[in-house]
Amino acid sequence: MTELERVDRAANYIREVLGSAEAGLVLGSGLGDYALAMTDAKVIPYAEIPGFPISIVPGHAGELWCGNLHGKRVLMMRGRFHSYEGYALNDVVLPMRAMARMGIGTLILTNAAGAVNTSFAPGDLMLINDFINFSGKNPLTGPNIDELGPRFPDMSRAYDRRLMAIAEETAREKGITLRTGVYAWFNGPTYETPAEIRMARVLGADAVGMSTVPETIAAVHAGMKVLGISCLTNMAAGILDQPLSHQEIMETGERVRDDFRALLDGIISKM
Ligand code: HPA
Repeated sequence: MTELERVDRAANYIREVLGSAEAGLVLGSGLGDYALAMTDAKVIPYAEIPGFPISIVPGHAGELWCGNLHGKRVLMMRGRFHSYEGYALNDVVLPMRAMARMGIGTLILTNAAGAVNTSFAPGDLMLINDFINFSGKNPLTGPNIDELGPRFPDMSRAYDRRLMAIAEETAREKGITLRTGVYAWFNGPTYETPAEIRMARVLGADAVGMSTVPETIAAVHAGMKVLGISCLTNMAAGILDQPLSHQEIMETGERVRDDFRALLDGIISKM
């Protein structure tokens, strides 16, 4: 089976069971319950979708939800595939490619990230305006799938300007602080070292995280319009005189969840 056949098997199954949608949304850590806000929702566990990556993380199932939200039909990923878990990058981006083949033109990516820019604070939300790929890997490595997109896709506007303007307007209207900046992808699963964070800052990063960039690359390649929003859950390594804790990161995510949801509500109703 070619990779395109695999993508299409997943796309056809999802369309049959859930129907299609106008937008896809990847729910980052802590945001998973946002799927429950939809009405008339249908759900499929990832394990039932032919062609989808086989789960290699115990107890880390993942579900695809499709339902109505603010007058739009939205497909939500509750759980994503990370490279640090051991998934090949073509597995990490398979859902985005399937969405593109289903005719979904818009993708919203959310994540938790560390703040590299010292004028940002834990709990801030950040609109991603560009990315830096520090992983040394690219999901488009290998023969190009011409049916999806070109061999050398342009990344000079990876994040869609119109969607960014909608996010900024929504944040203004709702009184939500929304920073803007560059997201740098490190593979993980280790958090970065203080030296890596100093390097990332000098090179132009405002936030760091372990996801989102491969998904952005594959979605842009396949012609989707992409919006990325980070929840800055902590100051990146070495900025504060304290170790990074997964616990603290989860707690900050929890604290700003309502703002994050309100921002997404506004964006979805306006887009
Ligand atoms: N680094 C990488 N990923 C993260 C961080 C971080 O500091 N915070 C939340 N996800």
